[in-house]
Amino acid sequence: MSAIGVLTGGGDCPGLNAAIRAVVRGAVDRGYEVIGIRHGWRGLAEGDTVALDRAAVAGILPRGGTILGTTGYDPFREGTVEAVRATTRSLGLAGVVVIGGEGTLGVARRLHEELAYPVVGVPKTIDNDLAGTELTIGFDTAVHICTAAIDRLHTTAESHNRVMVVEVMGRHTGWIAAASGIAGGADVIFVPEAPTPIEDACEHILARHEQGKDFSIVVAAEGYRLTRRSGEQEELVIQEVDRYGYVRLGGIGHVIAREISAGTGFETRVTVLGHVQRGGTPTARDRFVATRLGLHAARLADEGSWGRMAAVLGDTIGDVSLEEATRERRGLSPEWIEAARIVA
Ligand code: F6P
Repeated sequence: MSAIGVLTGGGDCPGLNAAIRAVVRGAVDRGYEVIGIRHGWRGLAEGDTVALDRAAVAGILPRGGTILGTTGYDPFREGTVEAVRATTRSLGLAGVVVIGGEGTLGVARRLHEELAYPVVGVPKTIDNDLAGTELTIGFDTAVHICTAAIDRLHTTAESHNRVMVVEVMGRHTGWIAAASGIAGGADVIFVPEAPTPIEDACEHILARHEQGKDFSIVVAAEGYRLTRRSGEQEELVIQEVDRYGYVRLGGIGHVIAREISAGTGFETRVTVLGHVQRGGTPTARDRFVATRLGLHAARLADEGSWGRMAAVLGDTIGDVSLEEATRERRGLSPEWIEAARIVA
């Protein structure tokens, strides 16, 4: 019996288990054995694997996180590409389904292009910034969590006549900020793709107060760089670089709050939603999207359509090349940017 591997890499998100379950079911249905690879690419470099059958994935559909574990391990960076290939051979894998974002799928693309490694991708990241797909696993849940938080902040902001700044994730793009800001009725939305000058935000908040609205909700993507009307931009606020060389953002909310407080004189508070956005049970949408993407990936693996990534294309699931998916990031479209600007 031939076998297919499955791994999750990069940051976790709700919906990964639904995707793993679908890959297993789709592959078993076609007569394959499935081998789960633990902790992303590291599991292939170190031979850390677990057999997955239908029983092993029973009950995981609504669970957040990933039963396989995940890391940002990059075999090119670690010099372990040969070990990855050796493990793949020794496990008798026909190919590997890789569930990941730009980093993990970037490794998949290189392995495929440079070494003809048999791999199929499934897009996940709460940031929703992969090209070639209209949606990535985890985004919908993150937006729900942020919108619920904004709703709660509204009532306390209103009671105290305060400005509430909510910092959400989004390293390079403002998908979560724009979607939750629009859905939550934010008054200002800061995104990296079209950075609103801080002076414009202060003016808008002052104008609201003049109209009798004594509170304001401000949503900022962590990847927003403080921008002035002069065009001058501050550096990204970086917390650290992790052991895999990954830059960790966070803190722009406090910078914005300081500026708004100084520019308006209003009492300002900050909420950094952080990893709460990635935790807990996935929404129904993330579950069915992850399931359909996982099933499509199993189909692609069965066909030997290596180098492809399952993708959400309008109302259907199709696939694109890993090259297209990782060539450049997908930022907010002009229509999204305009919506965020007009309603906020
Ligand atoms: O890429 C997904 C993401 O959640 C980003 O929005 C965020 O910047 C990053 O991961 C956080 O990474 P970590 O879990 O390593 O702190």
